[in-house]
Amino acid sequence: MRKYAVLVIVIVGSCLLFLTGYNQQDKKVHMPDMLSFAHRGASSVAPENTRAAFAKGVELQADFLECDVHLSKDGELVIMHDDRVDRTTNASGYISDFTLAELRQLDVGSTYSKEFAGESIMTLDELLEEFYHQVGLLIELKNPQAYPGIEEKVATLLLGYEDVSSIILQSFDVESMRKMHELLPDLQVGVLIRPTDSFLSAKSIEDLTSFATFINFNVSFINKRMVDKIHAQGGKVLVWSKKDKRLLAKAHKYGVDGVITDFSNWPTNDPIYLVQE
Ligand code: G3P
Ligand code: CA
Repeated sequence: MRKYAVLVIVIVGSCLLFLTGYNQQDKKVHMPDMLSFAHRGASSVAPENTRAAFAKGVELQADFLECDVHLSKDGELVIMHDDRVDRTTNASGYISDFTLAELRQLDVGSTYSKEFAGESIMTLDELLEEFYHQVGLLIELKNPQAYPGIEEKVATLLLGYEDVSSIILQSFDVESMRKMHELLPDLQVGVLIRPTDSFLSAKSIEDLTSFATFINFNVSFINKRMVDKIHAQGGKVLVWSKKDKRLLAKAHKYGVDGVITDFSNWPTNDPIYLVQE
């Protein structure tokens, strides 16, 4: 009798574990039509927004490299995430208080790992020169309102590229992206939606999709209904997450057009992606 009780407990327990998602086995998800974007480069395996992370993104066969852009004190377009250099370099202060020559002296690799000591900051110009012909580029303008004229500088740089179909500009700043669209109508732009603003009314979807090709969300703040509404207006949706291990599975479930990921759960070389649930 005791044997049967134990057996029943084991079977019921296993069913509960399975139903509650505690089954930690890798699951394969097929996502043939979904684009992959290496968030700040392949930033789970190399220091974010560096040449090394971008090269790794290409090696891992990302469709696009995502990067963040600011202006230096002397007006150069430079690649870094934060508006201060403290977290990712051996120095302290606002990027906008350093000239490009000064920024080039900073080590952007060592805070991640000694293995990357000596990595130096890239300009947007250099990123385009080195990677434009290899992979798509998703360029985020960080706090563009703090850098008057940044849209014109980016437009002038991109005018040097006849075909901009493999480049996307994005920002949390809607007006900045509206301006980019006016400056370069052929360029695809994306609007990043803050988690606190994730419910978009029909009117705002209509307004955003009138100039933006992409409307991009943190994966934890979107649902399939919102994706369907944006698709119905002709827009596309990208989702990102830094921590959610279910990013790829959710993206697949919601039917979005691409995932922006640091590649901690990175796709294999074929369209079958591995994801932990
Ligand atoms: O591309 C989406 C994502 O990059 C936005 O967040 O903070 O990583 O720039 P953040
Ligand atoms: Ca970004």
